[in-house]
Amino acid sequence: MPSYDVIIIGSGPGGYVCAIRCAQLGLKTACVEGRETLGGTCLNIGCIPSKALLHATQMLHEAQHTFAAMGLTGDAPDVDWPKMLAYKNDVIAQNTKGIEFLFKKNKIDWLKGWASIPEAGKVKVGDDTHDARHIVIATGSEVSPLAGVDIDEKIVVSSEGALELDRIPKRLVVIGAGVIGLELGSVYARLGTKVTAIEYLDAITPGMDAEVQRQFQKILAKQGIDFVMGAAVQGVDRTDGGANARYKLRADGSDHTIEADTVLVATGRRPFTGGLGLDALGIATTDRGQIVTDDRWATNVDGIHAIGDAIAGPMLAHKAEDEGMAVAEVLAGKHGHVNYGVIPGVIYTHPEVATVGATEEQLKEAGHAYKTGKFSFMGNGRAKANFAADGFVKILADAETDRILGAHIIGPMAGDLIHEICVAMEFGAAAQDLAMTCHAHPTYSEAVREAALACGDGAIHA
Ligand code: NAI
Repeated sequence: MPSYDVIIIGSGPGGYVCAIRCAQLGLKTACVEGRETLGGTCLNIGCIPSKALLHATQMLHEAQHTFAAMGLTGDAPDVDWPKMLAYKNDVIAQNTKGIEFLFKKNKIDWLKGWASIPEAGKVKVGDDTHDARHIVIATGSEVSPLAGVDIDEKIVVSSEGALELDRIPKRLVVIGAGVIGLELGSVYARLGTKVTAIEYLDAITPGMDAEVQRQFQKILAKQGIDFVMGAAVQGVDRTDGGANARYKLRADGSDHTIEADTVLVATGRRPFTGGLGLDALGIATTDRGQIVTDDRWATNVDGIHAIGDAIAGPMLAHKAEDEGMAVAEVLAGKHGHVNYGVIPGVIYTHPEVATVGATEEQLKEAGHAYKTGKFSFMGNGRAKANFAADGFVKILADAETDRILGAHIIGPMAGDLIHEICVAMEFGAAAQDLAMTCHAHPTYSEAVREAALACGDGAIHA
């Protein structure tokens, strides 16, 4: 059995990126993956397949709602659901095969099977035990169970089953108006499903800037998604061919039931570490099951590191990727670094929502004096031409120094627009730096510049 410098457990965005960087830095590297294909939740049952369905259904939405206004007449296309799923599966295959290619190119061994760690320095996969100087746990997350709800992935589904439904449901109840619930709820709403989201809190997408939350909910409601807010789901009961969700309104304690053909449980995820043998190793975890790591992603057991959804922080593929690269640098004797203050968050609905840095609520709570520069996409020529003028860019800057503290965008391509602000923040830029940068016309990016101008003497097109 060959021995390795590093064995990474898990081939999601954290694990595979870590493996590639380790190999590039000259470490003999293997990656363990028990799934049939590489790429983890993100590529197989998460980010990538959901984006394929969001894209396809957005095309349908455009055909139904904006084509005629642009002089494109004729019937809107019919939906061939099995074909749409086949397209989604093809997108998954292209991406997972791409990782396999990158592993071969970088001479990374794929150890096929589910790993356990019998002791530091050893990884067991099937009947084989491999030696490794360093072990990186990158096992990601799984759906958190919800009391009173049995997920069968047919009628009562998690995000995984929701990507593989055998038919388009007439009525979909989504439990939890967070990222997963709203992205997948959007997919089905565009396909003609009556979607109702039941949310425990009084605002959707917890933790986001409150102004974005309000505007986002309004836009989604206009798109046909119903919201029941301040409602705690108590359980789901199977019926003939469907299911009933029971919920209690927090305001008055009243009990209600809603009928559905399909129920999507989207109430959060938890670290996926079962089977690794963490307890026997004595690896410290939090009460939420997250592996405790220091600022170099080391656990309390020598030679074992952990990254991604399995540790603290936002459960985001790109956060895991950054940690994967950084821990590889550490293992190669260099300095790995992740700036946790500049990790964007994106929701891939239409319009998209993107956010980075502090929210207004956080700044108020911290007593930090700030100013706000806001610009509506109504003032952006390109957005108006493309029926994409819903939303705004909001930049928060230090009241005195003008340094950018956070940005919140709801609008077209928000997930791409956010990155010029991320780069600016990495360089410690002031809003004025963005405002003084020439932006090509006509682009959505001009709205970012206008918001930066609004932090100073004022936007031009407002
Ligand atoms: P989430 O934490 O974003 O949202 C869960 C929602 O469910 C919350 O609003 C919560 O208040 C609500 N909830 C919890 N229990 C409830 C109950 N009994 N009744 C009613 N509502 C209840 O979790 P989600 O959407 O499942 O996503 C899991 C993770 O995956 C998140 O960390 C998310 O960031 C990540 N993710 C990120 C994506 C992206 O970056 N675009 C896409 C999909 C997932």
